[in-house]
Amino acid sequence: MAFDLVLFGGTGDLAWRKLMPALFQAFRHGKLPPDGRILAVARDERSDEAYRAFIRERFAEVEPAKQPSDEEFARFAGLLHYRRMDLSRPDDYAGLKAWVDGRGADTVVLFLATSPHLFPVVCAQLGAAGLNGPQVRVVLEKPLGHDLASARQINRAVAASFTESQALRIDHYLGKPAVQNLAALRFGNALFEPLWRRESIANIQITIAESLGVGSRGDFYDTTGALRDMVQNHALQLLTMIAMEPPPTADADAIRDEKLKVLKSLKPFSAESVARDVVRGQYRAGTVDGRAVPGYLDEAKVPAGSRTETFVALRTEVQNWRWAGVPFHLRTGKRLAARDAHIVVNFREVPHPIFPGATRANKLVIKLQPEDGLELHLLAAKGGGPTGAGLETLSPVSLDLDFDKAFPSERVGAYERLLLDAIAGRLNLFVRSDEQEQAWRWVEPILDAWAADPNGPRPYAAGSWGPPAASALVARDGCAWSEES
Ligand code: BG6
Repeated sequence: MAFDLVLFGGTGDLAWRKLMPALFQAFRHGKLPPDGRILAVARDERSDEAYRAFIRERFAEVEPAKQPSDEEFARFAGLLHYRRMDLSRPDDYAGLKAWVDGRGADTVVLFLATSPHLFPVVCAQLGAAGLNGPQVRVVLEKPLGHDLASARQINRAVAASFTESQALRIDHYLGKPAVQNLAALRFGNALFEPLWRRESIANIQITIAESLGVGSRGDFYDTTGALRDMVQNHALQLLTMIAMEPPPTADADAIRDEKLKVLKSLKPFSAESVARDVVRGQYRAGTVDGRAVPGYLDEAKVPAGSRTETFVALRTEVQNWRWAGVPFHLRTGKRLAARDAHIVVNFREVPHPIFPGATRANKLVIKLQPEDGLELHLLAAKGGGPTGAGLETLSPVSLDLDFDKAFPSERVGAYERLLLDAIAGRLNLFVRSDEQEQAWRWVEPILDAWAADPNGPRPYAAGSWGPPAASALVARDGCAWSEES
């Protein structure tokens, strides 16, 4: 299948940090369909050769295992092309159309890795130039809006040129292998589904912790904050995958319909419930991985006195028959103690304990990163105690499944997976506009309540697990975050 992949923003961070390494991995694994062309588009003048040299150099910053040898790069570079474009000039789109039509590939993927404020103009120009035929798909990278109104504006602009099934909104968390395994775990096995409900599950925790700070992205981050950067999209997408009903088929829309229902069932926030159920924090100086690091306010490009949150913890509920009353605790933050993303499903305790002291409940831990796996925590009798009873010595044990070991050659990174899906036209892992708008609708009262709140975010030391109020939040439900329990 011949494809053309056009990367708008072809010299930007996303392109060289994530997309090119992912495309190279797909190429290296032999997964990229043969007969493809990758065209980078940006505003400065350069030749194909100069662009290839630019990408070659940037690969030095990619993790070593993902760097090409000279010979591999030479073969990969054969796919790479470059084109200068001024994104406001219709003539430049006409030139692009001629380039695309010159070959008539089966599939044309237009990846908008530009600043989102350009999405409306680029989509309008693509439509006007006729670069929106049935073989064309447009991929949109987050942030898709700043609030519901701006997200809708972008979606309207996209819809004016493309159908919903041509518009692929990326949430790269959906491309992570562990997230696909979540669907496999729930809907490919009969074991868990009967337990996957309020009768058996006491609460669910979702943690996306990062040890990095905001780095060189202080200006972007300061107008964004953790709620928009991580909760509105990544954390909520994980929640939908955990809480959704079994879809009737594995079709993209069947899955997305169920995810949308979860988003619509989330308990709405009011000013009072934000004050009670949402904790925001901002990191101060501290120590991460044995290294002293500055506080958020001392990061480059962060304005003095900023009130932007770098940490959010919240409690919500999914208001339907399956989940009524079950607390869902979400948290995410920068400069936390570790890079660690996981979901913990805490099961209820046994109804009538017969073993003294054995009150610890079962839990299932779905690990997203740094490892990708599953742990099922059980209690087992060590046996052989001096009295022979053995049962008094019930101990926690876990069944561990490490997917990287189980499927060593099969693992593909999130962007690799999503790019291959975009080329193949598989939509399951992309976010539909109604899902995205519903997620904004749900977070907006939090943004409003914070804007009206004279208290800013709570400080926490870099290298900690966030402000103590986050622990108090879950303690109210009789819970503790995974590292505390
Ligand atoms: C991005 C956020 O969407 O996800 C970043 O904008 C964040 O702030 C990143 O660091 C985290 O992704 P991952 O895959 O490294 O967990």
